Amino acid sequence: MHVDFSAAAADFPDPFRLLVKDELASTNDEAGALARAGAPHGLVVLARSQTTGRGRRGARWFSADGDSLTFSVLLRPPEAREFWPRLALAAGVAVARALAGYGLRPGIKWPNDIWLDDKKVAGILVEGGDQFAIVGIGLNVNSRGFPPEVAELATSMALQSSAIFDPAEVLQRVIDEFAEVSTKIGDEFAQTVAEVRQRCVLSGEEVRLVTAGVARCGCVLGVGDAGELVFEGAAGVEKLIQADDIRLVRHGR
Ligand code: BTN
Repeated sequence: MHVDFSAAAADFPDPFRLLVKDELASTNDEAGALARAGAPHGLVVLARSQTTGRGRRGARWFSADGDSLTFSVLLRPPEAREFWPRLALAAGVAVARALAGYGLRPGIKWPNDIWLDDKKVAGILVEGGDQFAIVGIGLNVNSRGFPPEVAELATSMALQSSAIFDPAEVLQRVIDEFAEVSTKIGDEFAQTVAEVRQRCVLSGEEVRLVTAGVARCGCVLGVGDAGELVFEGAAGVEKLIQADDIRLVRHGR
């Protein structure tokens, strides 16, 4: 399926601009290279196909041409560098809002997976340097099949509804939302956190999590004001700013 993104791109809010490539190793890598060469804030690099799409912690990101969206947004945020990791939560909120706009009921699996009905529909990988951040988003739009290694966990917008979606329109809606929420990582971050809290699928759940190679079980109490995960385990209440792996005890993922 050859998607025409030109009309959607023409409607992107300023300063977002779209660069479409037929094939890239990873849109995050390409956006990073372009950023180092001076590309501006707001450049969106989309690949129709990625040969080595990357997920968090070195995982692969699988995507089928035309059935899913794989793109990266280059940002040069005016906020202090310490706030840039908040872009991961902001991107999750943007994707969730876009999906909700289609009548779907997305959840955020902190920090940055988007779930539909207990399965992952989108993943977000934020990387960057001192001068820029790259927000990579993989979103399964019309995908119907997945490689065996992710088949149990993955889903798509189409699989969760009886509809087929226009990937260009989905992209435009995500960018529209991201244009707004990505500006709220500083003083207005409380609004973003409120939405994360509302959609967080981990809140109140028993989880098994791994940080720095150490696994432990406990209960997620919620999301704190800085976007951190508040977790209560045997050692008491902890505030986590990142975790290598978190699984719901009730279904092992
Ligand atoms: C994850 O769930 O672990 C994050 C997945 C991020 C995948 C996207 S697809 C577009 C961008 N390019 C990449 O190589 N990765 C991100």
